[in-house]
Amino acid sequence: MTKTELKYRFPSEYAEKIGFEYSNSTSNEHKKESGQFFTSKEISDFMGNLAQPKSDKISILDPGCGTAILSCSLIEKLIEKYSIQEINLSLFETDKIIIEETEKVISFLKRWLLEMGIKLNVKIEQTDFILFNSDVFSNNILFGNDAVQEYDYIISNPPYFKISKSDNRAQVAKELVYGQPNIYSLFMGISAKLLKPNGELIFITPRSFAAGNYFKAFRNSFFRNVSISNIHIFESRKKMFKNDNVLQENIIIRATKEKTSTINITVTECAKDLNKPQKYNYKTEELIDSNSKENILFIPSNSMEANTINVFRQWQNTLNDYNIQISTGPVVAFRCNGFLISDLALKVSVAPLVWLHNIKEMEFVYPLKKGIKQSYILDSEESRKVLLKNKNYVLIRRFSSKDDKSRLVCCPYFASYLKYKRIGIENHINYVYRPNGELSEEEIWGISALFSSKLFDTYFRTFNGNTQVGASELKQINMPPLERIIMIGKILKSTFKPTKIEIENIINNVLFETAYVKNRRSTNNFERVGTA
Ligand SMILES: C[S@@+](CC[C@H](N)C(=O)[O-])C[C@H]1O[C@@H](n2cnc3c(N)ncnc32)[C@H](O)[C@@H]1O
Repeated sequence: MTKTELKYRFPSEYAEKIGFEYSNSTSNEHKKESGQFFTSKEISDFMGNLAQPKSDKISILDPGCGTAILSCSLIEKLIEKYSIQEINLSLFETDKIIIEETEKVISFLKRWLLEMGIKLNVKIEQTDFILFNSDVFSNNILFGNDAVQEYDYIISNPPYFKISKSDNRAQVAKELVYGQPNIYSLFMGISAKLLKPNGELIFITPRSFAAGNYFKAFRNSFFRNVSISNIHIFESRKKMFKNDNVLQENIIIRATKEKTSTINITVTECAKDLNKPQKYNYKTEELIDSNSKENILFIPSNSMEANTINVFRQWQNTLNDYNIQISTGPVVAFRCNGFLISDLALKVSVAPLVWLHNIKEMEFVYPLKKGIKQSYILDSEESRKVLLKNKNYVLIRRFSSKDDKSRLVCCPYFASYLKYKRIGIENHINYVYRPNGELSEEEIWGISALFSSKLFDTYFRTFNGNTQVGASELKQINMPPLERIIMIGKILKSTFKPTKIEIENIINNVLFETAYVKNRRSTNNFERVGTA
């Protein structure tokens, strides 16, 4: 052991310290470009501890290894659990400078293991993990592709950043890509293919892969190759990576090649209390709906959220079944710059333009000036391709801010609000409509109330971990029977300025209180209801 090494009990401690120093000496640009944020020892030990014993000779892969802290923790935790004789470790890293540091950690790890009679063989590949492993996408792998080495354990905190569709890495990993991919999903997708039949992978990543169109191709491939057995959630959005200003909703997952029938979810506030998590156990089919093509992964962080998922499971229809569609506003401001108008004195034919800021919770506010945002758009033959018929819509924000209490912010919009033939809806808004027809007032009130409710917000958060609200995600949400939606709408329509609490009560009463629904039906009396 060198003098420096003697200061540390574990190689992972040394790896953390070296990573800390390296991080302090590199620029934020460099970190951002290479997606370089180092795992703390608390998290890395937790991840290592998830691994289950296998044979006495094991192979480990650590793609995007940084200072190899994850490999160190994994090995330290495994040898606490059972006796190992030989370890083959493969590391991938593109940053030449950090590899010099990684080598110091590896020589410490080697000597530390040797003292316990364990042999460590290490390969450090200074190359792109995705391009290097492009062979996993060839069909031969089904019949045992000799070019591909498989592993018992794959542990990773991969880089997170978006790459373009034309990037070589997105090209080779086409199977995992739809639209613009995030590099972390390619690391996960490839790793799932590199596992031995009894292998397991342990990753810390953003939770954005759980839902949404952009990760659909990835989910299809990933869930074909592995089954998730464990998920850890951090409730706080606070800094997950020491010394680095990363605000992410990150999760830790363990997945195995062998099919599992249950998923264990653990929850802690942050990394500090990882030793005392709350624990929940779910059947796999409760959290992944493998019958739908979406393969969405629901991640409830408490039993209330799990119950909410069950409520939605019992409903059989989506809006599409009621001949109702959801689309995204067609006016992309920078492309339509020439059409946007703030000055009505120009005496040209115009249509109102609806922006995000016009949508408040259950309230359409127009006109509402915000900065230089123009309230009108030219209504000409040329601009008409981005305009919509002025009819009844439910307007839903595509982006919520971190301060918004609810992810889903929406309001009813009635054609009678604005006396124009056409309207413009800006691209940061989703709109709900009936193609070749009109949504009734009751449907508009009912759908708006539901999408604004605590029930829908809770459900939405179980699969969407970011602040974006995609039309595709809204489309696949199971809805209550149409007559219940209409009943909610009828009550609301005849309720003078209902408060948030009243709306919640109306929804709860109509959806869950059967007696109330019967009573309302027989009297057909939809006057204002109090806070039940
Ligand atoms: C989020 S950091 C994590 C580092 C380390 N695993 C840890 O947990 O502390 C991701 C690492 O992946 C490396 N990296 C980025 N792109 C890569 C690629 N295409 N192939 C291999 N490594 C890559 C970065 O340089 C960075 O060190």
